[in-house]
Amino acid sequence: MGFSVLLVSLLVANWVLASEGSDNTSFDQNYKVTWGFDHVLSLNQGREIQLSMDNSSGAGFASNLSYGSGFFHMSMKLPGKDSAGVVTTFYLISQGKNHDELDFEFLGNREGKPYTLQTNVFANGRGDREQRMLLWFDPTANFHTYEILWNQHQIVFYVDNIPIRVYKNNRNIGVEYPSQPMQIEGSLWDGDSWATDGGRTKINWTYAPFQAHYQGFEIGGCAALDNSNIQHCYSPNYWWNTGKYWQLDSGQQREYENVRNKYINYDYCSDRHRYPIPPPECLA
Ligand SMILES: *[C@@H]1O[C@H](CO)[C@@H](O)[C@H](O)[C@H]1NC(C)=O
Ligand SMILES: *[C@@H]1O[C@H](CO)[C@@H](O)[C@H](O)[C@H]1NC(C)=O
Ligand SMILES: *[C@@H]1O[C@H](CO)[C@@H](O)[C@H](O)[C@H]1NC(C)=O
Ligand SMILES: *[C@@H]1O[C@H](CO)[C@@H](O)[C@H](O)[C@H]1NC(C)=O
Repeated sequence: MGFSVLLVSLLVANWVLASEGSDNTSFDQNYKVTWGFDHVLSLNQGREIQLSMDNSSGAGFASNLSYGSGFFHMSMKLPGKDSAGVVTTFYLISQGKNHDELDFEFLGNREGKPYTLQTNVFANGRGDREQRMLLWFDPTANFHTYEILWNQHQIVFYVDNIPIRVYKNNRNIGVEYPSQPMQIEGSLWDGDSWATDGGRTKINWTYAPFQAHYQGFEIGGCAALDNSNIQHCYSPNYWWNTGKYWQLDSGQQREYENVRNKYINYDYCSDRHRYPIPPPECLA
């Protein structure tokens, strides 16, 4: 059964990918380069960008605007061959102190060894909520879609439309929940002090430049001013706030459990060494 669930998911995912061909939004319409300006290349009239990293710099970009809720997505193709120590990201982040942040971080590896996808949730300045998994495909061979749903009920991370992580709004039992306007960002950087084998496996610069490709610059989000109240972004006029998105449906729940059983290889919730008493969100 696990297999057929995955197969159906892959078919759905292909449909999602195909429909994204209709995203004709160019990078410049919604995003700007924030660092490593000479390491960013615009392709296909801005429908795709390439970030490069060599021993002088990586690169990063951010959305012009901040958002208070949404269903955010990015299609990405990761650096291939030997990418040990190289970190490629797509994430949401608020500005200022006690920040909120929702991360996809792709941790490179030696050629022939698989990438690790790490996700993390920061709320009110506190992160330390890492989960790590392997993927059921080679993320360097093709574009795949990574999504973050954020409404007042839940945060869901998806890979090709398959939910891989759910963080519920459990404020009622004291769990911190992101509530500040966040920008959408992406980057390619040198993480070899920690990313691969705990920092023991370093970048081999012979393989530079490392290159990551991004597509899909349309943004499904509720724009909010920095530091403003995001109450208006909870409106049911935004489709991602409607009942269908308050929890996974039974099909998604099955996909989620299947992926977690097969591909998750680290979850802070079950790390008793680090958390002798599990954080409250892990018990909810
Ligand atoms: C996509 O945008 C380009 C440039 O803005 C425009 O020339 C082209 O007609 C658009 N294509 C579609 C399918 O809308
Ligand atoms: C983002 O900034 C660019 C350049 O200033 C501008 O052309 C574009 O309209 C802005 N997009 C949004 C959604 O504000
Ligand atoms: C960076 O890479 C260039 C080109 O491969 C090389 O010539 C240069 O020596 C390198 N610099 C450092 C500091 O490693
Ligand atoms: C880096 O890769 C090159 C080419 O495969 C290899 O010859 C070299 O030994 C590698 N360097 C390190 C430090 O592993």
